[in-house]
Amino acid sequence: MKKILLFSGRSNEPFAREVAAHLKMPLGKIVVKDFADGETYVNIVETVRGRDVFLIQPTGFPANHNLMELLIMVDACKRSMAGRITAVIPYFGYAKQDRKADVHEPITARLVANLLERAGADGCLVMDLHADQIQGFFDIRLDFLYASSVIVDYFAKKKLKNLVIVAPDIGASKRARSYAKRLHAGLAIIDKRRPKPNVAELLHLIGDVKGKNCLIVDDEINTGGTVVNAAKALKENGALGVFAACAHPVFAGDCMQNLEKSEIKEVVVTNTILLQKEKQIKKVTVLSVARLFADAILAIHEERSVSALLNSAK
Ligand code: R5P
Repeated sequence: MKKILLFSGRSNEPFAREVAAHLKMPLGKIVVKDFADGETYVNIVETVRGRDVFLIQPTGFPANHNLMELLIMVDACKRSMAGRITAVIPYFGYAKQDRKADVHEPITARLVANLLERAGADGCLVMDLHADQIQGFFDIRLDFLYASSVIVDYFAKKKLKNLVIVAPDIGASKRARSYAKRLHAGLAIIDKRRPKPNVAELLHLIGDVKGKNCLIVDDEINTGGTVVNAAKALKENGALGVFAACAHPVFAGDCMQNLEKSEIKEVVVTNTILLQKEKQIKKVTVLSVARLFADAILAIHEERSVSALLNSAK
């Protein structure tokens, strides 16, 4: 396989530049812009013939726009005879629609995986998918990374006393158990129900949090309802300090106000999604996962193990 070529879409260019800097290479020349009617125009300015191409584009808000931009970039590279195309999608949008929760619903996560393959991607590199089962939606190569690789280190350095890791719902319990193991902490689980989309209702708290520092871990924070309600329940049950961490700061709707007003002392996220100025509040700490992605890109290019980078971060 000929040399690596990296390109960035418009959804998180600072992240792509950081990855490129770690790899000590420039980003490839590409023109991405909108036509007057809102359609997307892409032109790969340099030759990609035979090259190992990596396209960096998380598909967060506006999800449809960013996804379409990525698909068009893949198509442009395919038609320009790229040797191999890997879509690097630090935040894989539409992941929450991974099953039919109601009879006539689509499985949009599967549709997105199909679209990427049909457009011509040979593989994808993602971080903290909403659910591990989504791996099965891809018939092309799928490599995945975990934000816990950097989040665990951050909290280990804080040396919080009497730490309990909290899963804000049953689905998050595997992730929470792994954090608890690596941070030598206790474990608590919250039983959450969603009476309707974007509304999180808490039912029970399993575990002892009285007088403890609690760290709620999740894949993403969307409206903030899940972590804010969890923090409230933890405080009502005697928790000392409450922290929250997730890979993807989706931060939609009233999330920032919800987080500001909440019992949470600090919210630790990564840079898979670019945070606009108004979302960069004091309570939010952003950790970079660019080096991890750079290492994974190099490993994929050199046909080396990507799982070796995970550091038992499952
Ligand atoms: C859902 O199961 C996810 O893991 C997150 O808990 C959810 O997306 C967070 O959403 P929100 O912040 O709107 O409660």
